[in-house]
Order: sequence, then C-alpha cells, then structure tokens
Amino acid sequence: MFNIEEFDIKLDTEFIGRNFIYVDEVDSTNTLLLNSKEFSQNGTVVLAEHQTKGRGRKNREWYSNSGQNLTFSILLNENINNKLINILSLGSAVVVAQTIENLYQLNIEVKWPNDVLINKKKVCGILSESSSRGNVISKIVVGIGLNVNQPNFPGKFEIAPTSIRKEFKEEVSRERLLSELLNNFEEMFNEAIEKPTKVLNDWRMRCKMIGEKIKVVENEQTKFGVFDDIDDEGFLILKIGDQKEKIHFGDVSLR
Ligand code: BTN
Repeated sequence: MFNIEEFDIKLDTEFIGRNFIYVDEVDSTNTLLLNSKEFSQNGTVVLAEHQTKGRGRKNREWYSNSGQNLTFSILLNENINNKLINILSLGSAVVVAQTIENLYQLNIEVKWPNDVLINKKKVCGILSESSSRGNVISKIVVGIGLNVNQPNFPGKFEIAPTSIRKEFKEEVSRERLLSELLNNFEEMFNEAIEKPTKVLNDWRMRCKMIGEKIKVVENEQTKFGVFDDIDDEGFLILKIGDQKEKIHFGDVSLR
C-alpha cells in the first residue's frame, strides 16, 4: 500500500501532484490522462499500483511488479508548447537522477533519449506524449516508470534492468521518493519554460555517451557515428565522418 498521508506531508509544490489520483489498477496511467476529460487540473498526477497495458517507447510494453515500484504520469496543460515535450523528457530523466542521487547517494547517468541508469542498468524509463487541438498542443503527459523495490527482473531485456533496492541494498520509501521527485519536477518544469538551455545542460552533464562512438537503431536502419551533442530541442546529433545528422527517435548503444 502507498501511504498517501506520508507522501502528502513531504510534497512541497504549488501545482504538481496537488491533484493526486491513486489507483490500484489501470491499463496505463499515460492513456488515462491522455484520454480522460475528467482530469484536467494542471499538474494532476496519477499513480497506479498495477498497469495492465503499461506502455514504453516504440510501442513496447512496460512491465512492473504490482505495489513495489512507481508507475505514474503527470498532466501538464498550461504554459506548454510543442518544443517542450522533448525538453521535459530529458529534464524528467535529470530530475529522477538528481532525486535518487540526493536520497541514496548512488551514481546515476542518463541515456538518450529518456532512460536513467545506475551502474549501466536501467532503473527508469520515461514516455512523454501529447494531444493537440488542431495545430495547438493542448496537453503533455509525462509518464515515469521507476523501479524502486522490485527484487528481480526475470526475462530478456535490451538493457539490463535494475531497481533502487537492488543497487542501494535496502528497501526504500516510495512515498518519500515520489514527493521529492515531484518537488524537483516542478522546479525543472519552471526552468524548462524560462531557461530551457539550463535543463539541456544539466542533461548533457549527466550523459556519459557524448563524444563516444555509438550505434543508433532507427526503425529498420542502423547508423554508426559519434554522439556529437543534443540540439536545442533535445534531438541527438550524430557525427558520421564530416556530416552531422539529426536523430529524432532510436535506440542508442556504445559500440
Ligand atoms: C520506456 O523506457 O520505454 C518508457 C517507459 C515508460 C513507462 C511509464 S510507467 C507510467 C507511464 N504509463 C505508461 O503506460 N507508461 C509510462
């Protein structure tokens, strides 16, 4: 059980998580916030103990043990624009990394576009989605799947998964972690609007792949090059020989 009172005492935000929806089971917290007209308050957070159709990037599934982790989504529908989606994804990865580092002194890195790694293993994935009215973006939903107390991860994965408990060697409080995370998220969101370059620079500082030789798998295509940088919208710049190419989607690995 998630103790909402314990979470609420530590929540120190103006709008993120002030409308907090806790559900036992849902198909996907992202789908719920994207499709529902019922939840419209800016900053609404939906936390689910279990998702029956948790979604990851590229239509992959997101599995998470019931009651042990944090699978939640944040609704944003004020002060948003198209450019913000990627910046918020990268910023959310930084927020997760910062929060884990502050609370558990673990060494965290981020991986383009939206993963958070501890000791090269994936502890968190982020899926940002949006819906538009005509050409105007009306909401952004940031979905975060964070492995907190799950002890093991049977199955085959592209990047080996881990949890905070596995790395920290102790069970951790999901309530404290979520409140701290949302406090930091609100700060990052305000920064993303006022100083997006600061958010991008924070991300760069935590990415260990910049300057390295990488492989990018984009749809059916595989590309090899050097991870040159991210641009001001958060896309990856891949240097192939003398050419620079912008990568919008794709899975990145060292080669
Ligand atoms: C990825 O690594 O591919 C992204 C995974 C994102 C998973 C989270 S869990 C909460 C939210 N609801 C979903 O259906 N997906 C995101």
